[in-house]
Amino acid sequence: MSLTFQAGPLRGDVRVAGDKSISHRALMLALLAPGTSTIERPNRGGDVLATRDAVVALGARIDDSDDTMRVTGGTLHDPPATIDARNSGTTTRLLMGLCAGHGLNARFDGDASLRRRPMERVARPLRALGAEVETNHGRLPAMVRGVDRPPGGEFALEVASAQVKSAILLANLRARRPVRVTGDRWSRDHTERMLRHFGRSITFDGKTLELEPGALSAQRVRVPADLSGAAFFIAAATMTPGSDLVLREVGVNPTRTGFIDALRAMGADIAFERERDLDGEPVADIRVRYRPLRATRLDGVLVVRAIDEVTILAVAAAHAEGTTEIRDAADLRGKESDRLTTIAQTLRACGVTVVEYPDGLDITGGGARPPRRTLKTFSDHRIAMAVAVLAAPTGPHPIDDGECIAISFPDFPALWQTAQQTRF
Ligand code: S3P
Repeated sequence: MSLTFQAGPLRGDVRVAGDKSISHRALMLALLAPGTSTIERPNRGGDVLATRDAVVALGARIDDSDDTMRVTGGTLHDPPATIDARNSGTTTRLLMGLCAGHGLNARFDGDASLRRRPMERVARPLRALGAEVETNHGRLPAMVRGVDRPPGGEFALEVASAQVKSAILLANLRARRPVRVTGDRWSRDHTERMLRHFGRSITFDGKTLELEPGALSAQRVRVPADLSGAAFFIAAATMTPGSDLVLREVGVNPTRTGFIDALRAMGADIAFERERDLDGEPVADIRVRYRPLRATRLDGVLVVRAIDEVTILAVAAAHAEGTTEIRDAADLRGKESDRLTTIAQTLRACGVTVVEYPDGLDITGGGARPPRRTLKTFSDHRIAMAVAVLAAPTGPHPIDDGECIAISFPDFPALWQTAQQTRF
């Protein structure tokens, strides 16, 4: 289904969809914890629904009503059929870890995009703890034969990936000895926070993550609004004259706010209000007003802390003054699409000069114009929503596939129209 995003400022008050990363983790720990956990306002995109169906296949009972998932866990069994993770890397990698360390045998598969993504990065550490993991030349489908009481011990991450780190932690929840993970400082730490919330002892001294043996207990989890969903609204409001927008109860975990830091370095007017804690995660209301942007450089740790927002920053760069350099971002080639190439093609179709490197982009600012043809989304939800941002100052921008947005943010088109007071 095609969709055309319009030009127009964003105003008013919005609560975006629940945090996707936190929703996945809440479902998985609720599966493992004896008793009934409640997950309030979870993300309801296709990825989280894939995890919901998978945890049911692994033994959870779920009552889903009134925007709350009530999950009764504590009893696990092998899934009766292949786990279909659909488009979701987080579902696949984290559940491969969970199965590997809880004596479960499971086969994993997904859609064409997920079948292209690398799985050895998670398979290797799981084999190291004794599980058998077979991949299809490093990709899905994959088969996991788990061990029941892994030995624990030391793990060094080969990539700064929260998914790999989380797979290792979930695989070691029943370890006989403490588990230490090194090699990463800045990938998102939602698994660690959620484990603490469910009663586990886990520490991080800036270098080494240490998980003690222990048990999980069922909890109530209130899910913050997703900063990665809010990011489209924040960038568009920053770039579009006349905008003044408040985003409610957004997760502002420092491992996720690289996008805000980068936009502020570009000159954006973004304020955090009413900063508070929500079940172990920092949240704030975020107020954004229009202000012209200038170019920046995005590399190193900032890329890790903005990993899912680099495409939006590329759009902001197209409207900034000067040339923005993005580097150290090669991992974006292994996301739902090769996001360095797909965002470069999208920007070029709107008249923007982009130079592509193996690990980044140079983007010359000065504005984008409406495209002459319908833009491709490459079935990537974040590319589709990035086009809405591109259109806000200069639309209309048509896309070929509005449906892929439902992977992370089914209500996005409706909320965008409300904030913009436009119709697509
Ligand atoms: C995620 C981690 C990130 C991110 C993905 C969600 C998570 O991937 O890109 O959208 O929930 O753990 P990596 O940590 O593998 O880079």
